Amino acid sequence: MSKLPTPHIAATEKDAFAKTVLMPGDPLRAKYIAENFLENAVLVNNTRGVQGYTGYYKGKRVSVMASGMGMPSIGIYSYELFNFYDVDTIIRVGSAGAISPELHLRDVVFGMGACTNSAYADQYRLPGTFAPIADYGTLQNAVKAAERLGVKPYIGNLLSSDTFYDDANSLSEWQKMGVLAIEMECAALYMNASRSGKKALAICTISDCPLSSGEECTALEREQTFNKMIEIALEATE
Ligand code: HPA
Repeated sequence: MSKLPTPHIAATEKDAFAKTVLMPGDPLRAKYIAENFLENAVLVNNTRGVQGYTGYYKGKRVSVMASGMGMPSIGIYSYELFNFYDVDTIIRVGSAGAISPELHLRDVVFGMGACTNSAYADQYRLPGTFAPIADYGTLQNAVKAAERLGVKPYIGNLLSSDTFYDDANSLSEWQKMGVLAIEMECAALYMNASRSGKKALAICTISDCPLSSGEECTALEREQTFNKMIEIALEATE
């Protein structure tokens, strides 16, 4: 299928999106990025209020569109962008809960890999377990940008969970395996990128510490204080 628009994205032109799309979870954050970081940003999608914009950052054409929450949602949007709109790279810019005791609020984590409790990979009928990983070049560019911007990069495994409220409370088991932080989208994004022959990276700012202090950012802080992470993603854009 390659007919535009897609079931979830209203843009009718194949090149409505730039080659790189930044993907926050929250549609309001997509609007915030477009308004505060992009020049000449044009709204290219608003289906279900999932705002997508294409504009320019330091002369580079770049897009931003929200993923919504969870792997089914980012699975849909990233699939359509990779397969129907010629997008090459998706950089998730999200939030995550700390699992590693090394991490504190607002630290920036780069998902080199993504563990998951989701059955998303079942669709590929693999005779084993797939290991979802970031695109190495994009990761390298982002880490270099972080260092230039004075942000300490924490690089390692994320846990992409199907549940935010989880009965089993198993984060300490993932901590034993050195997993850094929990979020809900990265593994599906990396699998869609692999299956499409495209590139992806997830960068997450720590917004809560579920295993220790229980400190959390407010919703407004989540929307507006993640500027460094956004700058890192934009600087990593080729
Ligand atoms: N769990 C799952 N996803 C999250 C969390 C969390 O604690 N924090 C931010 N995204």
